[in-house]
Amino acid sequence: MELPRGKSYIRLDQISQEDIDNLILRVNSCTWRQTFHIQPVSGLLNDPNGFCFYNGEFHLYYQWHPLGPFHGLKYWYHTKSKDLVNWENVGIAIKPDEYFDSHGAYSGSAVEHDGKLYLLYTGNTRDENLVRHPYLCIALMDDEGNIIKSKKSVLDKVPDGYTEHFRDPKLWKVEDRYYAVIGAQRTDETGAVCLLSSTDLLEWKFEGELATNLDNFGFMWECPDYFEMDDRGILIFSPQGLEPQGDLYQNIYQAGYVLGEKIDLERRKLTHGDFIELDRGFDFYAPHTMKDPHGRRLMVAWMGLPEIEYPTDINGWANCLTILRQLTLRDGKIIQTPIPELQSLRKAKTVAQGELSDEKKVIEGFSGVTYELVCEFERGDALEYGIEFRASEEEKTVIKFDAVQGKVIMDRALSGKVIGSKHGTERKCKLDGDVYKFQLFVDSSSVEIFVNDGEEVFTARIFPDIRSQEIRFFATGGRAAFKAVKWDY
Ligand code: FRU
Repeated sequence: MELPRGKSYIRLDQISQEDIDNLILRVNSCTWRQTFHIQPVSGLLNDPNGFCFYNGEFHLYYQWHPLGPFHGLKYWYHTKSKDLVNWENVGIAIKPDEYFDSHGAYSGSAVEHDGKLYLLYTGNTRDENLVRHPYLCIALMDDEGNIIKSKKSVLDKVPDGYTEHFRDPKLWKVEDRYYAVIGAQRTDETGAVCLLSSTDLLEWKFEGELATNLDNFGFMWECPDYFEMDDRGILIFSPQGLEPQGDLYQNIYQAGYVLGEKIDLERRKLTHGDFIELDRGFDFYAPHTMKDPHGRRLMVAWMGLPEIEYPTDINGWANCLTILRQLTLRDGKIIQTPIPELQSLRKAKTVAQGELSDEKKVIEGFSGVTYELVCEFERGDALEYGIEFRASEEEKTVIKFDAVQGKVIMDRALSGKVIGSKHGTERKCKLDGDVYKFQLFVDSSSVEIFVNDGEEVFTARIFPDIRSQEIRFFATGGRAAFKAVKWDY
């Protein structure tokens, strides 16, 4: 059978090895293949799933459609790592081949119980009229990495009051009970999160909806994640259907959190503050967290969005995951910092410092395709200052601080091949003080920019020409001092 080209539910085992080999050749010839991000060997990657530490290793799964860069039949793909930086491709974890997941093994999470890893996921099915019916499903992984799906689903009917958009369970344990938040759409087509509970992970009880003060906030909440830090309760989710509001909600769909008191499980209530976007960039969705053996809360997300086409599509693949970020709390806000383990990727180091006076400077040694760049700024009287990178005569990606507006601005209008331009080519966010530091992680086709040690993060895929490699430091309308360090990756 030929490789499918449009929306379809063709399985991997229906395709000849020759077609798959050809697809992989096409993927590997792409100059935008990433070098330090988790990416699919072929086809499309979306949500991270089941991130956990089990049997001495980190495991991270993701939504995978192997046969092309579109949302076809989804598998869970398995990667693992000892150091959170180097990830090994293990292979398929969950195949969609049962009555309860025939149209995709959709998102879910993992928890260890009685020495085994329990993967709780969404079984997507469609009937003969293509009407969706989700199931809640379980697969068990043992300490040798064998994964066996339970022969029956653990929840086979959407509770009354909700539509068939009922998916993405995220597990956690309280004393000897397991809980899961699950994304839902009410029958009035507003988004919500529901709560499930279980003692053995096999029999599940629908507890009801989690009350929040966001009753009318988009049409669907995908990929919820609940956890506690410093005695506070945090609910992350990806709401769909928010209208842009000033600088906010500029992407097709959003990803963010609310923070407040710890969840009241008895009353199923979360008392919380405003919804805050986790990332101010262009390509960030379905974030997923875990608590590591050191007690750190780590987050990974899909560096992409639904319904957006990427220029790698013609090479038969799309998307990757973000680097891992550690979450901490400061003044009622999540601070995100790149995990220190990433420093093991640092190779040749280049340093520079100087004054910029209404000018743009190119400094010897500051160029490249894959690197980490830390640039500290001290504002004099400049109106704007920042960095242009992956630049050439025609192309550049810009991150800057606009001191007049007090805003950080990222501009990818000239970043190379255009993506999602319908949703704009600039992203902005307000900052309390000046920018004193930008930390950039630049891979072949992406950038993640941490502002002021994690106060804000801008994540974007960029698709410049391989020859666009220049880095330029600039200040306009006055002076700024800078100090930069670059490590090749
Ligand atoms: C979010 C999502 C989930 C779903 C999965 C399917 O990107 O739509 O809600 O489980 O992707 O791949």
